[in-house]
Amino acid sequence: MKDLHAESLNEKEKFWKDQASQLRWFREPKTILSQNDQNYPIWFEDGLLNMSYLCIDRHIEEGFGEQIAVIYDSPVTQQLLQFTFNQLKEEVSKLAGGLQSLGLKKGDTAVIYMPMIPQTLFAMLACARIGVIHNVVFGGFAPNELVVRIDDCQPKVLITATAGVEINKRIPYLPLVEKAIQLAQDKVENIIVYNRKLIDNQHEYFENTLDYDTLVQQSQPVDCVPVASNHPLYLLYTSGTTGKPKGIVRDTGGYATALQFSMKHHYGIEPGKTFWAASDFGWAVGHSYTVYGPLLNRNTTIIFEGKPVMTPNAGTFWRVISEHKVEVMFTAPTAIRAIKKEDPDGEWIKKYDLSHFKKQFLAGERCDVATLDWFKEKVGVPAIDHWWQTESGSPMLGLLTSQDYTIKRASAGKAIPGYDIKIFDENGYELDAHHEGYLVIKLPLPPGALLGVWKDFDRFNKSYLEQFPGYYFSGDGAIKDEDDYFFITGRVDDVINVAGHRLSTSEMEEVIAGHPDVAECAVVGIEDTLKGQIPFATVVLKNNSEKKQCDLEKEIVMRVREKIGAVACMKNAMLVQRLPKTRSGKILRKLIRTMIDGKEFQIPSTIDDEKIIDEIQEKIQEYKRTNNFSN
Ligand code: COA
Ligand code: AMP
Repeated sequence: MKDLHAESLNEKEKFWKDQASQLRWFREPKTILSQNDQNYPIWFEDGLLNMSYLCIDRHIEEGFGEQIAVIYDSPVTQQLLQFTFNQLKEEVSKLAGGLQSLGLKKGDTAVIYMPMIPQTLFAMLACARIGVIHNVVFGGFAPNELVVRIDDCQPKVLITATAGVEINKRIPYLPLVEKAIQLAQDKVENIIVYNRKLIDNQHEYFENTLDYDTLVQQSQPVDCVPVASNHPLYLLYTSGTTGKPKGIVRDTGGYATALQFSMKHHYGIEPGKTFWAASDFGWAVGHSYTVYGPLLNRNTTIIFEGKPVMTPNAGTFWRVISEHKVEVMFTAPTAIRAIKKEDPDGEWIKKYDLSHFKKQFLAGERCDVATLDWFKEKVGVPAIDHWWQTESGSPMLGLLTSQDYTIKRASAGKAIPGYDIKIFDENGYELDAHHEGYLVIKLPLPPGALLGVWKDFDRFNKSYLEQFPGYYFSGDGAIKDEDDYFFITGRVDDVINVAGHRLSTSEMEEVIAGHPDVAECAVVGIEDTLKGQIPFATVVLKNNSEKKQCDLEKEIVMRVREKIGAVACMKNAMLVQRLPKTRSGKILRKLIRTMIDGKEFQIPSTIDDEKIIDEIQEKIQEYKRTNNFSN
């Protein structure tokens, strides 16, 4: 069998040229690898293509117009809809026409703030059709997060819907959008609203907005606009080490090549079959594997509006897999933990015919071995952990299931073709097997990985390239074994993963520090049996403050919900007299985290005052006792 990984590194250009040639370009690229103005490597510079064409029109031209492209399964609204590629083209090309009629053109930006409904996918593909760069904002984010994105990418249009549906509640979007529009410095010219007719009394918000359905009905379908391979398909903001999210820029040609490769070799699924990634559109997984990857590969994709549990029960996933004959599924380990908690004996699993189901992929956070073992025992299908980031857009570690593969429990797999992954110590020296260090990737990154940070090369450079020259720094720690399997040990920066959602503790600290009574604070990600990690705030009050612990905690929880969103899951804030610091004044966050997790810790030699350890320990015990809190 061919060693695709070795080939991809030894004969980079040939390897990726071959992969790219499997797409349909309007102009095939001749230059495979070159550099942009900042000397950063780019792929397929002179190629011309269109993502919407590759995901829709191409399949129709090849005779698959009547294949089901999209299934919308919404247990929370009791709806089930299907769209063929022909119908998808109709929806997307007319919406694209509507956007053009509003003056949108190639290179403009559009913010999409919508729930898990087909119109979100239509909007993404409509933008792609005419070269408009989309930025999808996760519906669980508060208006402030929308403001940051609006001001950074200055959209010409904001596409939204009247409501999202969560477990037992409806989330009206329009008041949130209105607030964001008021707070944003950049004034968005057009607001398109898809009326889901789920919530009454929204009329006051419709003034000066365009109705999605009316716009589509009045518009003529338009053809795909060819774009250069490096034309940004989308921006996706992700948390970093500062309070401000980074706008990751994704190209078109490299991304299409990488997704096509991953669908075939990593997820190992044939065209025509059903692929389901149960992720919100607002995350990288939603972009790559609910929308673009499966549609590129002519798979039927599923838009699932629900949760793994309580919508209505822990059998929902198995029902969807069974009803829609899902062959390959992708979710975050949290979802499996949630199901396992509700249905430890797998009774729901037995009720469904899962004979089509071949592979379960897991990513987004560390997957504990107990969950993997439970899955294997109860479902009887391989559960494959793999590792990637918003920045890469597709897997960097995983297993090529198109070939023979062996799962190693607790490992996220081996380097995927194109990724030359190494483990470095803090001085940039490569570590041998079994030594924990920083996970870095030798440049050039392969096709599909980020082009940069939107309009901020310095930030891109500082965040990813500066620390280890010639290498991309992932922000994750890892260990490699003698067989080149990697084991991710977690983030080495201020990013935490809450139920597979990537969030910044610095951003939470900024929000909490804005409370008038707070002198300083530290937010750390502590262990949580369901969500993997949850944030925990340790807060010092100003000298003149008389706030009580319970009042402060309530106010902090509200503040984080209002400024970042409920999805941050900030529920715990503990008052302390002072924070543990080094002699140079750096807060010892890792120490706080280890103490709250109740793990063994070593007192750092750089600590300013050792007496604080007992103080904090006492506070933690008191907090856990009075709040009946354990993690
Ligand atoms: N719009 C509005 N609010 C949202 C939202 C959305 N799209 N998504 C989540 N929220 C809100 C929830 O309603 C909840 O609010 P609450 O505190 O008022 O109850 C809060 O954000 C936390 O939501 P969530 O993280 O979904 O937790 P949960 O306790 O409701 O459900 C799980 C727990 C495990 C079922 C859920 O986290 C899950 O399905 N995880 C799957 C992981 C996943 O898809 N990750 C994406 C990356 S691959
Ligand atoms: P995101 O950019 O939201 O996809 O989050 C990326 C981060 O999630 C990575 O940097 C990791 O910290 C974490 N992550 C993703 N997949 C895994 C995995 N399989 N195991 C451990 N951590 C993971």
